Amino acid sequence: MKILVTGARGQLGNEMRDVLERLNPGITTYIDMDDLDLADFDAVEKFLTDGDYSHVVNCAAYTAVERAEIEKSVCHRANVDAVSNLGRMSDRLGFKILHVSTDYVFDGNSSKPYTESDKVNPVSEYGISKRHGETALLGLAPDSIIIRTGWLYSSYGSNFVKTMLRLGEERKSLNVVFDQIGTPTYAADLAETIAAILFNRQWTPGIYNFSNEGACSWYDFATVIFKMANITDCHVSAITSKDYPSAVTRPHYSVLDKSKIKAVYGIEIPHWEESLARCLDRISADSDI
Ligand SMILES: NC(=O)c1ccc[n+]([C@@H]2O[C@H](COP(=O)([O-])OP(=O)(O)OC[C@H]3O[C@@H](n4cnc5c(N)ncnc54)[C@H](OP(=O)(O)O)[C@@H]3O)[C@@H](O)[C@H]2O)c1
Repeated sequence: MKILVTGARGQLGNEMRDVLERLNPGITTYIDMDDLDLADFDAVEKFLTDGDYSHVVNCAAYTAVERAEIEKSVCHRANVDAVSNLGRMSDRLGFKILHVSTDYVFDGNSSKPYTESDKVNPVSEYGISKRHGETALLGLAPDSIIIRTGWLYSSYGSNFVKTMLRLGEERKSLNVVFDQIGTPTYAADLAETIAAILFNRQWTPGIYNFSNEGACSWYDFATVIFKMANITDCHVSAITSKDYPSAVTRPHYSVLDKSKIKAVYGIEIPHWEESLARCLDRISADSDI
């Protein structure tokens, strides 16, 4: 088994490195944009032909949801062209792809958790690009596994948790939307799940949902972060999306049904508050170094 992890400098890529080097050290190569632009087919072809990989875990993506509304072509390169290039090479060389997608492929008009077979209807450029990436990959390399996740955070990179910790120290008050409901996902838990799939004897292709358990609004998420981090000097007010100026439309509801990944791969999933506590411990331990 020889694994390639792309997007290794990102949140999930860093967590993949931690998990894979703990469970099965030395069998994985970690790359990011500086090593290889995945949207450049000639470069991808050369790199992968020379590499003899059995599995590629694609954590690379364009994830700036707001900026994607204006940087459409940059977003498309990373979320569609790059994924297509991996799919083409998988078809040629036979390696398996585990790709990561998003809850933002849904429009958010549901009021019950989305299953993998529910109708997609992305309402943002980011969501549209991620959906095109999914269809391109399934067309070129139908043996791939795609995991849709949402509201990802980690001690690595920038994310909502780290932004709240910073703003909580800087400001006296903060407005956070309460009419978008989803599930925070600790990237370390997603990385454990991806590793469990890679090291499972069974490879069952298709789309799977993964997030932590439970559901909340961004407002709930912020208040729990403040409570756990003992931030008491900043007041959080709940506002509606209408009152939060944004270039992008986000789904009002994007909770994912995780029955399939639990049934097929026996994955046990912690509640989001439990995982948040672990991440905050990690952030605090890292800041003591
Ligand atoms: N973040 C979320 O809340 C969230 C929610 C749902 C799903 N997801 C999905 O989860 C996956 C992991 O997300 P993440 O938050 O870990 O992402 P991230 O922290 O933004 O990391 C993505 C990495 O991909 C690299 N990259 C971008 N374009 C590339 C290209 N053309 N070639 C090679 N590398 C490229 C980026 O490099 P540069 O920094 O140099 O551009 C970055 O290091 C993605 O598929 C994302 O769509 C994320």
